[in-house]
Amino acid sequence: MKNMENEYLNTAIFAAKESAKILLSYIGKEKNVDYKGKINLVTEVDRKSEDNIIQIIKERYPSHQIIAEESKPDSSRAEYTWYIDPLDGTTNFSHDYPIFAVSIAFEIDRKLQVGVVLDPTRSELFRAVKGKGAFLNNKKISVSDTRFLKNSLLATGFPYVITERSIKLFNHFLSKAQAVRRAGSAALDLCYLASGRVDGFWELDLKPWDMAAGKIILKEAGGIITNFTGGEHSLFGNNTLASNRLIHKELMNEIEIAEKE
Ligand code: IPD
Ligand code: CA
Ligand code: CA
Repeated sequence: MKNMENEYLNTAIFAAKESAKILLSYIGKEKNVDYKGKINLVTEVDRKSEDNIIQIIKERYPSHQIIAEESKPDSSRAEYTWYIDPLDGTTNFSHDYPIFAVSIAFEIDRKLQVGVVLDPTRSELFRAVKGKGAFLNNKKISVSDTRFLKNSLLATGFPYVITERSIKLFNHFLSKAQAVRRAGSAALDLCYLASGRVDGFWELDLKPWDMAAGKIILKEAGGIITNFTGGEHSLFGNNTLASNRLIHKELMNEIEIAEKE
């Protein structure tokens, strides 16, 4: 099993790096933005990046299941499943705003084994293997030791269709935390939490490919990820709360208060 884990990790890293080259080659150029629904963007680059990752995985593991945002969003989970977000932060990318990433994760029997998130513009590669810790490039990372919400920097995001519920939570945390950031890539938000750059994160309506890689990276860095009430987190659920552990209870309490307002 040990060598297989490394093989899966290397496959994810190789695929992410190849896709990063595709993304970078489009910076400053026409990206042919298209719309899925009213405001959900997709570019020809999302599709190229995804085709490239799927081809690499399929060549090595033809029988594995793939759940990928652009071409296979509704595939059911199988024993061996890969989660692919070929470009997390498409809105940023379409404006040449340099916060976006490639996100690839692999699970066996519904347990995440490997996660890789690559930020091409900063050459930052976040990675984790189950039970082996989390790394940024070659440095081990861990969550922050911030103890109180009032001293915390939080990250969040909004679904494409913004609801009153998400605005309520955002407003609430603006006055409870030191500051709140909405950077535009959930995969990077989770990795920034894993590496201590932010202390907490919440979001509604994320998809499995947004979270899978970031989730294992965060857990391996000592963080915690649950639903809004502290229950078990599901990649297929609609609410995500993650933190450095120390402020988790406070975050849960504030969510409860905000949702009653
Ligand atoms: C989006 C980003 C964003 C989050 C949205 C996601 P995409 O993914 O992760 O941060 O707030 O909910 O849909 O569409 O850029 O891959
Ligand atoms: Ca995404
Ligand atoms: Ca995407």
